[in-house]
Amino acid sequence: MVQRLEGRVAVVTGGGSGIGLATVRRFASEGAKVVVADVDPNAGKAAADEVGGLFVQVDVTDEEQVKALFQTTVDTYGKLDIAFNNAGISPPDDDSILTTGIEAWERVQKVNLTSVYLCCKYAIPHMQTNGKGSIINTASFVATMGAATSQISYTASKGGVLAMSRELGVQFAREGIRVNALSPGPVNTLLLRELFAKDPERAARRLVHVPLGRFAEPEEIAAAVAFLASDDSSFMTASNFLVDGGIAGAYVTPL
Ligand SMILES: NC(=O)c1ccc[n+]([C@@H]2O[C@H](COP(=O)([O-])OP(=O)(O)OC[C@H]3O[C@@H](n4cnc5c(N)ncnc54)[C@H](O)[C@@H]3O)[C@@H](O)[C@H]2O)c1
Repeated sequence: MVQRLEGRVAVVTGGGSGIGLATVRRFASEGAKVVVADVDPNAGKAAADEVGGLFVQVDVTDEEQVKALFQTTVDTYGKLDIAFNNAGISPPDDDSILTTGIEAWERVQKVNLTSVYLCCKYAIPHMQTNGKGSIINTASFVATMGAATSQISYTASKGGVLAMSRELGVQFAREGIRVNALSPGPVNTLLLRELFAKDPERAARRLVHVPLGRFAEPEEIAAAVAFLASDDSSFMTASNFLVDGGIAGAYVTPL
């Protein structure tokens, strides 16, 4: 494995599972020191232990906890180079606008969007001190495409992540701090596999739109995050980095 992140210090929120976990492994394999931040102590600690990193239990919706996360990182490893703000939820009670209540709406906004605001707010000053940094915020392909199978708060939250990342990328560009949004297509996670095993028609309705004909593996998303985190993407900021198997570019897909 190339060592593009040798000597770099990275925070990964939601690092205990899925895309976050795959990224923790990828960052470590490229030489980074990794801080795993997750609300789930078992999964988070296991991920950190696996790569010899640090686990910090944090609810990313809590301002004091987020502030402490980045301070602990700098206290432990001396600086902050990379923030992968990735924790997010997609609960079943976030559905059509006609049936989604205000409680579900607000819960999803807090975990998916307010958390990114907080993580950027408390990561950027450490990066200013460091004179550089790379922030990657997890949006989604649904930030740029509409779905008839709505998850209204989720979609709106990811649109917010996309717009906020663009704005921050522009604002802090001359200080050497790059901010990009990462927009994954559907990823082959346990939850998705269980859901689609029960309902093959539901899976087929989605798969037909993917030119590559399958969902992403978490490791394929992690590879893109490592690129955005590294100097290989040094001329990229304020962008929407789509890793979606071609979904966003497709009209008619191959049979
Ligand atoms: N899986 C997909 O198909 C897909 C597609 C596009 C975008 N995304 C986005 O990618 C990100 C990661 O998704 P995933 O599929 O890997 O999810 P996942 O459920 O496998 O992992 C999410 C992690 O975030 C943690 N987390 C949840 N709420 C938290 C909180 N309040 N504070 C701290 N940690 C918290 C969980 O404990 C978990 O470890 C999310 O932002 C998601 O919206 C996922």
